[in-house]
Amino acid sequence: MQRRILKLMGAAAAATLLLTACEGEGAGSSGPDEDAEAGDLTVGVAMPTQTYERWLNDGANVEEGLEELGYNVELQYADDDIPTQQQQIDQMVTQGVDALIIASIDGSALSGQLEAAASAGIPVIAYDRLIRDSENVDFYVTFDNYEVGVKQAQSLLYGLGILDENFEEAEDAPEGPLNIELFAGSLDDNNAHFFWDGAMDTLEPYLEDGTLEVPSGQTDIEQAATQRWEQETAQERMENLLTAHYSGDEELHGVLAPADPLSRGIINALRNDGWGETIEDGLPVVTGQDAEIASISLIAQGVQHSTIFKDTRLLADQAVEAADAFLQGEEPEANDTESYDNGVKVVPSYLLDIEMVLQENYEEILVESGYYTEEQVESGQL
Ligand code: BGC
Repeated sequence: MQRRILKLMGAAAAATLLLTACEGEGAGSSGPDEDAEAGDLTVGVAMPTQTYERWLNDGANVEEGLEELGYNVELQYADDDIPTQQQQIDQMVTQGVDALIIASIDGSALSGQLEAAASAGIPVIAYDRLIRDSENVDFYVTFDNYEVGVKQAQSLLYGLGILDENFEEAEDAPEGPLNIELFAGSLDDNNAHFFWDGAMDTLEPYLEDGTLEVPSGQTDIEQAATQRWEQETAQERMENLLTAHYSGDEELHGVLAPADPLSRGIINALRNDGWGETIEDGLPVVTGQDAEIASISLIAQGVQHSTIFKDTRLLADQAVEAADAFLQGEEPEANDTESYDNGVKVVPSYLLDIEMVLQENYEEILVESGYYTEEQVESGQL
């Protein structure tokens, strides 16, 4: 609690100054302890980009949750630009926010900012993406990222007929070899490695026994990565793979894609290259993540095969709870104290569950639960 004390000392000095300055204004409170009411406190929220639907929701939900508890919120998006995010956080620290919630762009590029935050006694919560190489990360809220990768791979194996609907070896599984290509996220995002490891651990036995093949031979995360998670980059890589390895009569049966915008880029490339409009008429099965409305619409139409639903409303709740705990001088409750080593320490984490979404269950998971309406699914828009 050294940080909290430091912070309070800072606030005490400020309060004294303020009292001196506004004498006679009836400022009744004599110290920061009584002062530390939610309305006097500000939480800085740093989000990576507005180009992904999820981060817009994350920002809005975190802001709303904090405001409901009475806190002031400083919410910033950084346009997926690392210097912009560093600058935004620097500024939040300088302006004296009382806690920080950060979804990093490059998980290893914020050590300086976090050091400044620690010196000012500001607790830091890493949001969804782990901040690496810093001891000044106090808490981490996220999903079970390894399991995301496992479920992406299982859904791919199911789509290829290798696993049955219970995700066990299918009795009539094709002997193969079936051809797949692999995509990963941005290498500077710690999550990308967890998704990849979960997926590759699950696919490995089938790659080893020859049921699956990767005709491009690009089976390292460095080769499969998509810098900044950009849709156009994934689309371009898919186009290049098709030209280089599938211009004859080589078949492509499936693509591991780690996030919905990338899945849609990959599907665009496949459609433009004449593989079919739906899975039924020849489009390879493509996985995804985030349950974005445009992809749920494609899943309903039998175009995209699967996605992973991560309820970001619950993640926002956890981040708000953690910030609130720190601001009350308490420690937030972790449910995982082993998985997330950031290179300097294991960061206490709160992990949320995830769900695989397919054509046969999107209605139950996303429509009946009220997450999306049937009209939104039909139009593909919110
Ligand atoms: C998040 C994913 C998201 C990706 C791209 C990852 O860190 O966990 O949900 O699709 O970033 O924004």
